[in-house]
Amino acid sequence: MNPVTEGLPDSFWGIPVPGPVALASGTCGFGLELDAMGLLADVALVFSKAVTPEPRDGNAPPRIHDTGYGLLNSIGLANPGLDRVLSEVLPAAAGLSRPLVLNVACESVSAFGSTVAALEAGGSHAGYEVNVSCPNVEAGGMAFGVDPAAVASVTRAVRRETRRPITVKLTPNGGDMVSAAKAAEDSGADAVTVCNTFLGMKLDWRTGRPALARGAGGYSSPALLPLVVARVWQVGRAVRIPVIASGGVWEPGDVLELLAAGASLVQVGTGLLRRPSLPSELAAGIRDLLCGT
Ligand SMILES: Cc1cc2nc3c(=O)[nH]c(=O)nc-3n(C[C@H](O)[C@H](O)[C@H](O)COP(=O)(O)O)c2cc1C
Repeated sequence: MNPVTEGLPDSFWGIPVPGPVALASGTCGFGLELDAMGLLADVALVFSKAVTPEPRDGNAPPRIHDTGYGLLNSIGLANPGLDRVLSEVLPAAAGLSRPLVLNVACESVSAFGSTVAALEAGGSHAGYEVNVSCPNVEAGGMAFGVDPAAVASVTRAVRRETRRPITVKLTPNGGDMVSAAKAAEDSGADAVTVCNTFLGMKLDWRTGRPALARGAGGYSSPALLPLVVARVWQVGRAVRIPVIASGGVWEPGDVLELLAAGASLVQVGTGLLRRPSLPSELAAGIRDLLCGT
């Protein structure tokens, strides 16, 4: 049986969804602007930009570089911080037309627990994406994601504080993603997100200077697709919880390929930055492709 041509999923975590396409963290804010433009109709779930305990301006510019083949970013989790998310963002997001999943990033296990505990007090968000995989901060972040024991500790800390669904967003940069995914599953995660950006760098060979002020950053582009397909395939065979694919989606066929590899939901990130109407274009394209099968 081909899992794709047998029919697309119409729910995820028990939430009815119009299709398999979701919005990737950091590329859609909290979904408010896209919703105001009527662009969420074909979106399954909105994954918010990372929320951190304190407000963050992010890294110094330049922090975005378009290589022509893909995008390098070192945004560094710029966000208004927990207090303003609770007092301003979540009340505004209560009116969103599609469910919001809060991406959370912290520098210690206990901070993950206390941040999620605080977020539990406000908002009608659908769940959490636990970001143990950001390549753009010095402490915490990716360090958790490369160590299955740390992934387990963070997942347990979040699990203790919420009954809402949790997905753990894994890193492709070092470590063994399959072991990290199993650790998340065994510690109470309801899904894993495969995966965050790949560490990359652009240098001017004349001066030796990097294009991003911080040096290296996270690389995203359609060129990631085969890398992400392989990881979704590997992780999907190792865990029983759903896999949310993230990386390299540009065309309707990319979404179907990731579903065929074992994903239950597929995020679009850089593609959305280029074309905010991409989710609806993908939905229409997927219908066309499946009608032809
Ligand atoms: C500008 C930018 C900011 C991002 N910020 C975050 C973030 O705050 N938290 C996170 O988990 N991932 C973040 N990501 C990673 C994306 O959510 C996504 O996993 C990655 O870009 C791969 O998907 P894509 O190839 O469709 O862009 C960011 C990506 C970009 C391009």
